[in-house]
Amino acid sequence: MSSKLIAPSILAADFANLQRDIEMVNTSDADWFHIDIMDGVFVPNISFGMPVLQAIAKHAKKTIDVHLMIVDPDRYIKTFAELGSDILTVHYEACTHLHRTLQAIKTEGMKAGVALNPHTNIHFLEDIINDIDLVCIMSVNPGFGGQSFIENTYNKVSQLKELIKRKGASTIIEIDGGVTNKNAKTLVDAGADVLVAGSYVFKSNDQINTIKDLKSLANS
Ligand code: DX5
Ligand code: ZN
Repeated sequence: MSSKLIAPSILAADFANLQRDIEMVNTSDADWFHIDIMDGVFVPNISFGMPVLQAIAKHAKKTIDVHLMIVDPDRYIKTFAELGSDILTVHYEACTHLHRTLQAIKTEGMKAGVALNPHTNIHFLEDIINDIDLVCIMSVNPGFGGQSFIENTYNKVSQLKELIKRKGASTIIEIDGGVTNKNAKTLVDAGADVLVAGSYVFKSNDQINTIKDLKSLANS
């Protein structure tokens, strides 16, 4: 992918002013909305569910990238498609029959993503990489925004990039967790295509410019 993308994570938005924050992303240089769904079982936190996603989708004018941090995601694939998800990412660690899950996501007309926890080696994707549209490398332990970036992520990105090339796949690489202006350029240089940023964007006093600067940095 030539142009590198920025995906603000709505988990860090002000939920009492959600429409305002969605409009901010609409008018910014951001490319996607990153939506974190947590079930309190796969991760030790509960975020929000279908009614909130439906409300977001009503106002969002950009690609909706849904990151499912839930057990048994197969149960909800159809529902997430109906709610307006463009990309649906499931966790490698939550899927017993990953190949079947990815086919089901594509059958519903969405792009299929696979997220890897920090401890999961990218080589587990060796036999499935050609079926994956997006790999989301977790650069924090999933469950919470505002955590510190795990440095080993750089190695994982390079290894994954090498695997994608070797297999002739067209998979894109997304990084999720602790992304800031300090690590954005190094991540892109290692092979990242999409940077998710929650706290860094929404805790900023000038969100529009923070997104603009992050995007220029990623494309510099
Ligand atoms: C963590 C979520 C992330 C999170 C990123 O479980 O998947 O998308 O919102 O937030 P920051 O950028 O604050 O680490
Ligand atoms: Zn996420």
